[in-house]
Amino acid sequence: MKSENSISKLIKGYKPGYSLEQAFYKNPDLYKKEIENIFHKHWILAGHISQIPEVGDFFLFEFANESIIVTRSKDGSIKALLNVCRHRGSRVCLEDKGNAKAFTCPYHAWSFDLDGKLIAARYMNDDFDKSENGLHRAHVELAGGLIFISLAEHPLSLSQMQDDLADVFDQFGFDNMKLAIQKTYPINANWKLANENYQECYHCAPSHKDFAKIHAMALNPAKFDQQKETFLKTSESNIRTKPSSFYFDLAKDGQEGYQYDRNPLIKGMMSGSKGGKPVAPLLGKLEKYECAASEFMVGPVTFFLIYDDHMLGYRFLPTSLDECICDLFWFVRGDAVEGKDYDLETLTWLWHETILDDEKIIIDNKKGVDSHFYKPGKLSDMEAMEQHFLDWYIKSIS
Ligand code: FES
Ligand code: FE
Repeated sequence: MKSENSISKLIKGYKPGYSLEQAFYKNPDLYKKEIENIFHKHWILAGHISQIPEVGDFFLFEFANESIIVTRSKDGSIKALLNVCRHRGSRVCLEDKGNAKAFTCPYHAWSFDLDGKLIAARYMNDDFDKSENGLHRAHVELAGGLIFISLAEHPLSLSQMQDDLADVFDQFGFDNMKLAIQKTYPINANWKLANENYQECYHCAPSHKDFAKIHAMALNPAKFDQQKETFLKTSESNIRTKPSSFYFDLAKDGQEGYQYDRNPLIKGMMSGSKGGKPVAPLLGKLEKYECAASEFMVGPVTFFLIYDDHMLGYRFLPTSLDECICDLFWFVRGDAVEGKDYDLETLTWLWHETILDDEKIIIDNKKGVDSHFYKPGKLSDMEAMEQHFLDWYIKSIS
């Protein structure tokens, strides 16, 4: 009761236009509420179908206290099974990826098939009903080859996003991409500080020297607006430039939030790489480099940046109140061959560097927010998306 009171007091004291009070980052009960109201409710990127091409292939998708086995079942469909044994709760699968015919719990050896059905339970009485004791399943939805998972009993709908962005998925060849590499970056800060940092490019010029050489959005707002206007006027591309803004508090009732936009890169920059040079074969229906990149987000913690020749995915997940991870996914065209069409070091260079910059500024931010003297500070106009995130966040925990 006391804790509920302190959370509602905190929410009542929230001032739009300012950063959050320190207690939003420190309260363990609030963290529990966030897990329940946000991470158990919204769609999150789990991975990509190219990670599990064969029947029985699987990988674990994990955050906070949860572990989910994402696997390809016998009929070729993707299943998400809660990695919690229906006997006494042990983790069933301990490998983070692999191939299995069935999942056998290491504790007392109950065995589950690739659909999560209980197929063997040693020495249980005759009246024990195996059909009632399968692994719990999470909802799965694909967008192209991207695998999204929702732990909600009744998940938000992705139908608006799927209909609206069907042309984008087609133009960039979402059905024909593959995951080139995924890297995980642990960050010693509350997940919101990492997610908030991703919502604004106010920090890009001072904090990301390499990124700022490539992306026009790191320029001052007037210059960026001018470059964007010229880009929109002169673009003859078949790639969609029309934005869709249904993110965070702008999402329609019952629908998952999402966003799409296309922005120019700095003149002459063709990709998100050293010197803006091409790093992989052009994606989908692109016939030439357009010196632009598209942004796409689904739900509150999954973001994509689509260059003409590769796509980056980002996912921010809490691991505890004070720690989170940022997962980066690099996607290339499905038929691109490593070593011939792309090289992992060249492909990953810019965003590996950029996320290390981000990790540093997020941790420095956390140190300041932890101070006795920290007070919420005024947001700039360049932090409009951060404002949407905060407004949505407050609603989500209220
Ligand atoms: Fe899994 Fe007992 S906890 S078989
Ligand atoms: Fe950044």
